[in-house]
Amino acid sequence: MAQELENRTILVTGGAGFMGSNFIHFLFANVPGVKVVNLDLLTYAGNVRNLEGIEGKPYTFIHGDIADAALAAKLFLKADYVVNFAAETHVDRSIHKGAADFVHTNIEGVHALLEALRASPNVKKMVQVSTDEVWGDLPLGSKKKFNEETPFKPNSPYAASKAGGDLLIRSYVKTYGLPVIVSHSVNNFGPRQFPEKLIPFFALRAMKGESLPLYGDGKNVRDWLYVDDHSSAIATLLKKGKAGDVYAISCGEEYANIDIAKKILGILGKSEKLITFVKDRPAHDRRYSVDSSKIRALGWRPRISFDEKLKETLQWYSENKSWIKGVIKNNTNINSHISLK
Ligand SMILES: NC(=O)c1ccc[n+]([C@@H]2O[C@H](COP(=O)([O-])OP(=O)(O)OC[C@H]3O[C@@H](n4cnc5c(N)ncnc54)[C@H](O)[C@@H]3O)[C@@H](O)[C@H]2O)c1
Repeated sequence: MAQELENRTILVTGGAGFMGSNFIHFLFANVPGVKVVNLDLLTYAGNVRNLEGIEGKPYTFIHGDIADAALAAKLFLKADYVVNFAAETHVDRSIHKGAADFVHTNIEGVHALLEALRASPNVKKMVQVSTDEVWGDLPLGSKKKFNEETPFKPNSPYAASKAGGDLLIRSYVKTYGLPVIVSHSVNNFGPRQFPEKLIPFFALRAMKGESLPLYGDGKNVRDWLYVDDHSSAIATLLKKGKAGDVYAISCGEEYANIDIAKKILGILGKSEKLITFVKDRPAHDRRYSVDSSKIRALGWRPRISFDEKLKETLQWYSENKSWIKGVIKNNTNINSHISLK
């Protein structure tokens, strides 16, 4: 897989979070000789335990902020490729706790990375991991899909801050010809996801026999991609993606939130009576649907079915109680607001 990446040094930012850590595991499992440097600020969402299992691999952890321009510049000098997963990622936090951290990391942080890239003679490509949420939402029942040409219409402060970073990248690509690719993925799921996000949030509550609070009528639709399929999409972009281009990543498995709740309850053998309906989130996007034919033309495909991996993901959470305890111990306010990405 990805011979271009063999024996290379990849700087992964935000590699102690959900998708970044799974990407690092993916690299060590699939790319011979790869070396990884992980720059992570270890915010509430970062967890060094997410890297358990890579002991003995050529891996360096740097505790720091992507917005630290001097640090970013230093690390870019030694990297062949960069993938930026570092971000503030939770929509509800951006609504209820203010957007300052989102602006700092998702815009100022991206700016520092771009300046570091300008000064680096070595980095061949950087991938900015963005989201489908920058495109706003689609009506339920419509056949429309977002694609790389869709104009940005973000509805949450989180999505707006990601769009801000993406626009800054566009300008640096146009102005300075920097080799950056922006990827826009749909919702990811899998092991090591912080339990404020829909699937682990519902799973952990269901395991304890607690209610599953659904926003509004529960009919908001998301497309779900297993995190390893996202990792292989990023590896494909590093290897074959055109520098300066934008790529949408999707699975095509679209489910309403209420269907996800029912699937989780079914797997865990719990009653659907645990489902409760609560006041909707402000500006709650109704439906995301994404056309990923551009990255599929590079040979990438999602390999993994939702139902199969949902079972395994729930199994992972039930087998990793000490991981959950650690995460909750350090974040006592985890359930203080309802969380549906
Ligand atoms: N989770 C999803 O479903 C999803 C879907 C599409 C796109 N994305 C994007 O993928 C990326 C990763 O998402 P995730 O769910 O793994 O996030 P996460 O919240 O699990 O992890 C974010 C990581 O970034 C680190 N971080 C935050 N601010 C930092 C800073 N200033 N400097 C260095 N590190 C910092 C945190 O410590 C944490 O380890 C984000 O950019 C997100 O916007 C996520």
